Amino acid sequence: MTLVGNDLIQAANFLKGGEIVAIPTETVYGLGGNALDENAVLKIFEAKNRPFFDPLILHTHSVKELSKFTKEIHPKLLALLEQFSPGPLTVLLPKKEIVPDLVTAGLEQVAVRIPNHELTLQLLQMLDFPLAAPSANPFGYVSPTSAQHVFDQLNGKLSYILDGGECQVGIESTIVGMEANEVVVYRLGGLALEQIESVVGKVRVQINQSSNPKSPGMLKSHYAPLKQLVVGNLEELMQEYADQNFGVISFFEKTLVPHQIILSEKKDIHEAAKNLFAAMRTLDKTSVDLILAERLPDKGLGRAINDRLERATSKD
Ligand code: TXA
Ligand code: MG
Repeated sequence: MTLVGNDLIQAANFLKGGEIVAIPTETVYGLGGNALDENAVLKIFEAKNRPFFDPLILHTHSVKELSKFTKEIHPKLLALLEQFSPGPLTVLLPKKEIVPDLVTAGLEQVAVRIPNHELTLQLLQMLDFPLAAPSANPFGYVSPTSAQHVFDQLNGKLSYILDGGECQVGIESTIVGMEANEVVVYRLGGLALEQIESVVGKVRVQINQSSNPKSPGMLKSHYAPLKQLVVGNLEELMQEYADQNFGVISFFEKTLVPHQIILSEKKDIHEAAKNLFAAMRTLDKTSVDLILAERLPDKGLGRAINDRLERATSKD
């Protein structure tokens, strides 16, 4: 039985003892363990049923801490870190020896992030090690945005869930790195492309690699609900699937479908992102056979939302 609460000391004690604990962040809940302790990291992979080729993000409480785990930081990446940390940004940096290969799946670079959540920042300050933390969901399923989501799927597989309420951003961090002096975005996420480009200029977006992905979490089948999901123009989809028992995820429009979730009645893209994964979970629990989801405008967080919807359509 996994304990749930907001006791930082209890959470810290479990982590110091090499156990794993779910931590709230502004993006999604993470499944954290001592990143410098291979046994703790192994427990994370085991609890999630995650393949070892999929590396983990190292979480710490300040940009200053990063030099303990990483070598030189390219000035452009440093500028991003300084501008957007703590926040929904993950940066790939050359790792130091101290970071176990298990964390990076043998890669030379480690993904690092400073999450913007009060409880978790306090927790990280209480520890003398960083936390390796993937999203706290079974491999391949939608990420959790509440303590309840974590409990529903991982109860018994971790020691403690630090309940920090509902995640305020709701989709995973944006992952960036450096290739040949150019900033590359490997995963669209909670920090919009426009914001990144406002600091470092035009970037290259390199998502959806199928073979030997640089960011293995970008395998197509990630983030999928159990029900089949189809993305497109809602009106057209509803006609096409008229003879089926479907539920609907819309941006702001109301339909007459009984199982319908509106992501943001006030057409706010941030609110939509925040509600996206919970919407998929809710419809998964209903009797519908199929989920029809509307594409959002392709700008700001809309891009990351569309990316997650597209991935959720895939079962391979
Ligand atoms: O918002 C987030 O990033 C959340 C919260 C908990 O911080 N974490 C998260 O972790 O989404 P996860 O494990 O579900 O996705 C992290 C992805 C990996 O699947 C992989 O694609 C990429 O980050 N990644 C991690 N380390 C990497 C590395 N060394 N090189 C390339 N990609 C890496
Ligand atoms: Mg994940």
